[in-house]
Amino acid sequence: MSKNRPPFLCTSCAATLPKWQGQCPQCEEWGTVAEAPAAGARGGGRGILATARPAVPITEVGAVEGERRSTGFSEVDRVLGGGLVEGSAVVVGGEPGIGKSTLMTMIAHRMAAAGAKALYVTGEESAAQVRLRAERLGALHDGLLLAAETDQAAIAAHIDSERPAICILDSIQTVHDPDLGGGAGTVTQVREAANRLVALGKQVGTALFLVGHVTKEGSLAGPRTLEHLVDVVLSFDGDRHHAFRLLRGLKNRFGPAGEAAVFEMGAEGLAEITNPSVLFLRGRGADAPGSVVTPAVVGTRTFLVEVQALTVPTQGSPRRVLAGLDPRRAQLVLAILERHGGLHLAGLDVFANVVGGLQAEEPAVDLAAALAIASAFTERPVPGDLVAAGELGLMGETRAVPRLATRLQEAARLGFKRAVVPADAAGPGRMPAVDGLELLPAANLAEALEAADVVA
Ligand code: TYD
Ligand code: MG
Repeated sequence: MSKNRPPFLCTSCAATLPKWQGQCPQCEEWGTVAEAPAAGARGGGRGILATARPAVPITEVGAVEGERRSTGFSEVDRVLGGGLVEGSAVVVGGEPGIGKSTLMTMIAHRMAAAGAKALYVTGEESAAQVRLRAERLGALHDGLLLAAETDQAAIAAHIDSERPAICILDSIQTVHDPDLGGGAGTVTQVREAANRLVALGKQVGTALFLVGHVTKEGSLAGPRTLEHLVDVVLSFDGDRHHAFRLLRGLKNRFGPAGEAAVFEMGAEGLAEITNPSVLFLRGRGADAPGSVVTPAVVGTRTFLVEVQALTVPTQGSPRRVLAGLDPRRAQLVLAILERHGGLHLAGLDVFANVVGGLQAEEPAVDLAAALAIASAFTERPVPGDLVAAGELGLMGETRAVPRLATRLQEAARLGFKRAVVPADAAGPGRMPAVDGLELLPAANLAEALEAADVVA
């Protein structure tokens, strides 16, 4: 094989392959492998970007990062690590219909209203549609510029001539460049177009928001391959049938990743909720079997969430429907309940759900999930003033969870009186005392079932 021969590339997941294949071995998509564009095709737009700068001693490099600006949402600022860094590039991924355009329109408007020029580039909707949404949101402002554009070079020209403080690309999947191979939306196009715009943004000091659609399966159909070329990756998710949305930082070069902010979608757009702890407990039925509250941690936020479960006799083969929980952990919990809790679930359908559409996927929810299922099974309600937090091991033992003190303080603050916690976290000097909260240490599942009063 000639040295210059371009390798092949999957246009779905960007895997490079030595030879052509009908199915990509990495993402298992069919018919997506194509010849990668020749090197010449990528170098096309160098121009202004190719300024060579000499290397300098590290001690002479200014330690100040770009200036930060508020997005107009204190919660978004917090997720970004204290505001939007000048010239930074942020990917915002989320399922279609979740509210990305709404959030971006509101941010652009608030920044414009604060005196920062904002440019909204729409490739999916017409300018008229974007205006209508902005009107409904009360987000019209002369400092918010709108361009319906999908051509990378044209967008670059807008940024270069307007020099906005922020530019929103809604969405990055629609941006293309006829000079590059492949069609709009292919990985090569998206990545190359993004690459150029991100570089331009850094050069002129425009912060870029790249909106990207993510499918249910989590593939960012292109934008996943953008993660390494941007500074910040945010995901916007939630259950479309509920009003709550969670903006999470998955990567952040300018602050801690893993921060989260909660929004509520209403008729006037998205409202940030600065004290979300109780949110997911709204409308909780008192003292019904199968309901357990647990303090879940996302970033630096603690949410009290309700895990609900239901067990009913199986018609046909047993079903396990586990929403909002990590499916693999939930399967483990079921096996542990069977083996170490004495619950015979074989002839039963098991349903479990985290109320409110929050994904509570950390191991710390194991214990609450187990107690909820056991409570549904025995039809004995868990006391309404009790919370549970703990991971379960395969031997049925309970295991310590991170940030237990924070979780318990939040539970106490919201009026809970008792907490089932792992016994090993309750050792002398290790368990923080929390005012008004009685701790019920359990070494294993059996002790936890007893402490929560779900077994006779
Ligand atoms: P949108 O921002 O268009 O989602 P995305 O860009 O992620 O595809 O908004 C999606 C939904 O939000 C849409 O079904 C309507 C709803 N919505 C509201 O409930 N209130 C509002 O004020 C707005 C603008 C939208
Ligand atoms: Mg949209």
